[in-house]
Parts: sequence; C-alpha cells; structure tokens
Amino acid sequence: MAEIPSTNTNLRLSGKIAIVTGGASGIGEATVRVFANEGVRVVVIADIQDELGNQVVESIGNQRCIYVHCDVAEEDQVQNLIESTVDTYGQVDIMFSNAGIISPTSQTLMELDMSQLDRLFSVNVRGMALCVKHAARAMVEGCVRGSIVCTGSVASSQGGKNSTDYTMSKHAVLGLMRAASVQLATHGIRVNTVSPNGLATPLTCTSLGMSEEKAQETYQKFARLEGVVLTPKHVADAVLFLVSNEAEFITGLDLRVDGGFAYGK
Ligand SMILES: NC(=O)c1ccc[n+]([C@@H]2O[C@H](COP(=O)([O-])OP(=O)(O)OC[C@H]3O[C@@H](n4cnc5c(N)ncnc54)[C@H](O)[C@@H]3O)[C@@H](O)[C@H]2O)c1
Repeated sequence: MAEIPSTNTNLRLSGKIAIVTGGASGIGEATVRVFANEGVRVVVIADIQDELGNQVVESIGNQRCIYVHCDVAEEDQVQNLIESTVDTYGQVDIMFSNAGIISPTSQTLMELDMSQLDRLFSVNVRGMALCVKHAARAMVEGCVRGSIVCTGSVASSQGGKNSTDYTMSKHAVLGLMRAASVQLATHGIRVNTVSPNGLATPLTCTSLGMSEEKAQETYQKFARLEGVVLTPKHVADAVLFLVSNEAEFITGLDLRVDGGFAYGK
C-alpha cells in the first residue's frame, strides 16, 4: 500500500480517497483543486487528455494527486481505474463522475445525426453508468459509506432549441442518480447530481467558437441572478458540499447551480 502524506484533520475531506473523471479540464479540474485544498489523501484524475491531466498533477503535487488515463466509455478501463485505486490506497470514498461531451453539430431533432448521438451516449450515459457501477461495487465490497456525485446540467430537466442528444443524455444522468440513490441507500452510500447552468469551459468555448469572456456574456442571459458570473469553482464548491459531512443526510438530490435558470431573460 502506498505511503500517504499526513493530513490536517480540520479540513472537510481529510483522509478521503477521491476520483474525478474529466478532471483534466473545466469543472473537473476546478473540483480536483478544491478537493486537494480540503485535505483529501489522494485525488485521482481520470481523463483521456494525458498532457493536461499530468499538468494538473504537477501543479498540485504528486503526493496528493495522480493521473490515470481512463476512457469512461470503456468498461475495462473504468474497472482498472477503480481496482488500481483500491489496490494502491485501500478504498474509494468519493466518486465525482463528471466526464462529458457535446456533439460537434447542433443536433436539432430533424437533423439528428445518429452516429454523433451514439458517441455522445457512450460517454455521457454509458460512461456515467460504468463509473457509478464500479465505484458502488468498490464501496460496498470495502464497507465504505461513500459519496457519488454525477454531473447533470440544466439540460437534465428542460429541453432546448438544439443539442437534442445532449439533453436526452443529461436526463438519463438524473435517472441513473435516482435509481442508484435508492439501490445504494441500504449500504449508506449517497448519490446526488450537480446541475450547472451554461458556463465558460474549454468544452463550451470550443463548441461556441468563443473566448471565455464572450461565452460568459452569452451564458449570463440564461440566469436570473445578476452581479455574478458562473465559474467552474462555483460548481466545484457545490460538489464539495455534496461529498462532505455537511450533506450527510442528503441523497437523491439534483443540486442546481443555475442562478435561477431563465430562457433569454
Ligand atoms: N460547461 C458547461 O456549460 C456545462 C454545463 C452543464 C453541465 N456541464 C457538464 O460538466 C461536465 C464537465 O464539462 P466541462 O464543461 O468542464 O468540459 P471540459 O471539456 O472542460 O472537461 C471535460 C473533461 O472530460 C474529459 N473527457 C471527455 N470524454 C472523456 C472520456 N471518454 N473519458 C474520460 N474523460 C473524458 C475531457 O478530456 C475533459 O478533460 C460535463 O459532464 C458537461 O456535460 C457543462
């Protein structure tokens, strides 16, 4: 078993072993940093962007953070991620299943490209289910009263003018969370979702072809709340709440971080 650095027991995640999928960028990266600052023993970044993932590890320090290449759509890779974490650190306390993609075209219903839909579902639905399944197995086997959080979206509970496949996939994430929260409650394992409004991350800036500032401006129209711009850190703080002891009696919740969602206010 790996040598673990000593931890400050006053911190909210002191001693915990956490996995963050999609932890190399955007919301996942911000959450990795928040977890590290809150005293996790180790946070495992699981992603397919090896260079970015290793850069995040370098900036945090490889005693508290490691990178594992894992395509969440591939069951053997997810299984290996969980098994190697348990073998090295003893257990999994926290799974933040966050990796997700959007399709390269607008995916309106009548122009729906089914191969793009299949690819998106393999990550956003199949990948999400695989991460929850294997994290749950490890927690049950290790008698760990762990916490699982999945990344939903405002698109988990309403439709839009495009991204039909993405909206469908994010509705499925809520279904997964609700089924898992019921089935795992007897083991003391909590399962919740965090559902952000649109925000500027590499995912959305690339898709919109916009700078961070322009994307932020665009997304501000979708929140009623004035005077604050949604950032990855806001979402990471909501995830921190859900996985911490402050949320000890919360399971089956979709926590919306949406500033009061509005269509073109
Ligand atoms: N940015 C937004 O406006 C927004 C809003 C609501 C929900 N979300 C959701 O938040 C999550 C994170 O998105 P983000 O905006 O931070 O995007 P991002 O692109 O910055 O980060 C996503 C990360 O997931 C990784 N990833 C993609 N496919 C993967 C795979 N098959 N296996 C492992 N890792 C994979 C990417 O390499 C990337 O590092 C996604 O689930 C997304 O749907 C984003």
